[in-house]
Amino acid sequence: MGSNVAVIGTGYVGLTTGACLAHLGHRVVCADVVVDKVEALSRGEVPILEAGLDELVHEGIHSGLLSFVLGAAPAVADAEFVYLCVPTPQGEDGSADLSYIQAAASEIGPHLQPDTVVINKSTVPVGSTRVVEQALGRSDVAVVSNPEFLREGSAVHDFLHPDRVVIGADDQSAAIRVAGLYLGLPAPLQVTDPASAETIKYASNAFLATKISFVNAIAAVCEAVGADVNDVVLGMGYDKRIGDAFLRPGPGWGGSCFPKDSRALVRIAEDAGYDFDLLKGVITVNDDQFERVADKVQRMVGGDLSGTTVAVWGLTFKARTDDLRDSPSLQVIRRLLARGATVQAFDPAVDPVEGSHDSRLAGIELAADAYGAAQGAAALVVLTEWDDFRWVDLDKVAEAMTHPRVVDARNLLDRAALHRRGFEYEGIGRS
Ligand code: NAD
Ligand code: UGA
Repeated sequence: MGSNVAVIGTGYVGLTTGACLAHLGHRVVCADVVVDKVEALSRGEVPILEAGLDELVHEGIHSGLLSFVLGAAPAVADAEFVYLCVPTPQGEDGSADLSYIQAAASEIGPHLQPDTVVINKSTVPVGSTRVVEQALGRSDVAVVSNPEFLREGSAVHDFLHPDRVVIGADDQSAAIRVAGLYLGLPAPLQVTDPASAETIKYASNAFLATKISFVNAIAAVCEAVGADVNDVVLGMGYDKRIGDAFLRPGPGWGGSCFPKDSRALVRIAEDAGYDFDLLKGVITVNDDQFERVADKVQRMVGGDLSGTTVAVWGLTFKARTDDLRDSPSLQVIRRLLARGATVQAFDPAVDPVEGSHDSRLAGIELAADAYGAAQGAAALVVLTEWDDFRWVDLDKVAEAMTHPRVVDARNLLDRAALHRRGFEYEGIGRS
């Protein structure tokens, strides 16, 4: 028998959570404050690119287990469980901004049934369980921390096949009830206290970011000493204690979470009296990486980017998502534009017409395909690892460009094939 669940916020996490819980047999009402979004979702139109999500939303609507409403309060009247999946953006001082969480909790507080469990899935600093309790203003409902570890692009798969489910609760019976929602998922379940659960989330993201900054730093060393970072990672990865996951060099890490969560953890530590120098270094290496990629392009065109046309392949923060939030690609492009280049970009997930109204893409000329972006360009830089780019006709690309030159910031393309066609090539951590 499924439970009655409300999900507040229908973004990447909320919509995935709602659709997957309906798939597991729960009756789910999802709420959002954006009218267009709620109307589109009610018609089965999913506004984000996320593999398998359309199918699950359709399935939920047709089975009657999944519905959408405007506003948080109307969603919670019959709920036994309420998930908070609202944004926790970076505040001005680097800390996580809890205003969305507080607003949602204060809104639903008066409408909850006694014994409801409020489950916080947003990424929040230690102590936020208390903040939610206070904002709810209810002593007869439990608040539980249940951090989410899904990745965009594989959100549905990650939700249904998690590496672990973490529940942080002071109230053990509430933790057991929440665990019941995930029955059948093939994952270890860890029940702990709220502070530990909240810390697990930040520590995990910070560690993953550290791995990437580490490999990007090793890539810089490889360039200096003439080694090939791909071979170095392969050799490191055979060591089971290291593994090869999350050691792909690139233009730096980005997205809606690593940048804000790493800075938030530095701030959490600082507030608690610990100077998290290691994590500050990880962030600095990442900021430097954007600069290093822009420098590579500048060097390749002869040292001066002003008046030069640069082709960019990839705008999203990684492949298989349409998310542009904090994209490393945009960080690099910003630097190219600041140095006087004209940037012509193509991304398989960005429609040139819609994109022209997106302020984050201001100043970028959006092309309809990879060849259009290359037209008249003095260099091409690959910034997102879309598979599509592997299969382009390189002869056609070379013909379109004024000079066949590639900076492959994802080590994605076939270097030998490019060399055969006379391209000048530079990757990350390999020449
Ligand atoms: P998002 O911006 O994609 O979605 C948040 C949604 O909440 C928006 O649709 C917004 O309109 C809605 N919303 C805001 N206030 C509301 C309110 N009062 N009532 C109803 N709806 C409201 O955010 P996201 O990427 O899904 O992230 C949500 C949280 O989950 C963040 O804390 C994030 O750090 C965390 N997280 C995100 C990911 C990820 O991959 N995106 C993974 C794990 C954890
Ligand atoms: C990340 C974590 O992987 C999730 O576990 C977590 O739930 C989520 O953040 C979150 O808290 O929001 P996501 O932001 O979707 O997921 O993307 P990742 O796949 O982790 O990639 C983040 C960035 O690192 C991207 O810019 C990606 O291109 C880059 N990356 C990743 C590399 O440069 N190299 C790698 O080996 C892996």
